[in-house]
Amino acid sequence: MGCDDVQDFDRWAKQVRVTEAHAGIEFVWAGDPRWQTAWAIRPRLQGGPMAENTAVLRKPAETSAPIHDLLRKRWSPRAFDSRAVETEKLKSLFEAARWAASSFNAQPWYYIMATKDDPENFNRLLESFVEFNRSWAKDAPVIGLSVAALKFEHNGEPNRHAFHDVGQASANLALQASALGLEVHQMAGILPDKARELFFIPDGYEAVAGFALGYPGNPAALPDKLRERELAARVRKPLSSFVFTGKWGQAADFVK
Ligand SMILES: Cc1cc2nc3c(=O)[nH]c(=O)nc-3n(C[C@H](O)[C@H](O)[C@H](O)COP(=O)(O)O)c2cc1C
Repeated sequence: MGCDDVQDFDRWAKQVRVTEAHAGIEFVWAGDPRWQTAWAIRPRLQGGPMAENTAVLRKPAETSAPIHDLLRKRWSPRAFDSRAVETEKLKSLFEAARWAASSFNAQPWYYIMATKDDPENFNRLLESFVEFNRSWAKDAPVIGLSVAALKFEHNGEPNRHAFHDVGQASANLALQASALGLEVHQMAGILPDKARELFFIPDGYEAVAGFALGYPGNPAALPDKLRERELAARVRKPLSSFVFTGKWGQAADFVK
């Protein structure tokens, strides 16, 4: 049985209790709220690029209200499979970004990206990341930077929502990636001045965030500290802490 989407995975995981250890990691059964993390063993019939019995970590969100499966499924891995990302899929990701909403439809987003088979540009992008992010993003098959146009083209005025809109485009990109079996890990830890210098980013534009993307890989390949973080539960603040009504800090009734 395949487990390409969250529902499939949940169904599959309920039938299979994974107890074995693989590559020094103990498998955790999916769906246990104490863990929130979920392991899958790539099913035999699915084949694909990863060796049979290679572990793929899934971390579907434990939500307080139903949300779309795609939103539950998306997460930010640091372990990526070395498999290249198909160019048609890459094109879909940026097409998804293209259709984000934006203030005045200004579409202030730009992306500088490189695949691993373009080592010169890949390494220049790595140089634009802080060392911590470099340490794991170097193994992703695709990395990049988002860049914002800080002024409106139509009147040259500052666009106060430029970063917001770049974030929306990148959220589209990340969700489209997840829908295609890929995952994206975004990064604030970049060196914007370095990026400007290395990629000739003009005045009026600014690097916003880095990203690494690819097929999720086996966390066993990560150094101990990163593996711990990879396996940690995904956590969120409660709705009542940020959905207000009437005045600041007053939670709306329906989220109490
Ligand atoms: C704008 C942005 C910046 C981030 N910066 C980094 C970063 O520099 N390094 C890193 O390892 N993770 C970074 N992350 C990943 C977050 O830590 C991650 O999204 C968060 O812990 C929630 O986990 P989830 O995406 O798996 O739900 C960033 C995410 C976003 C959206």
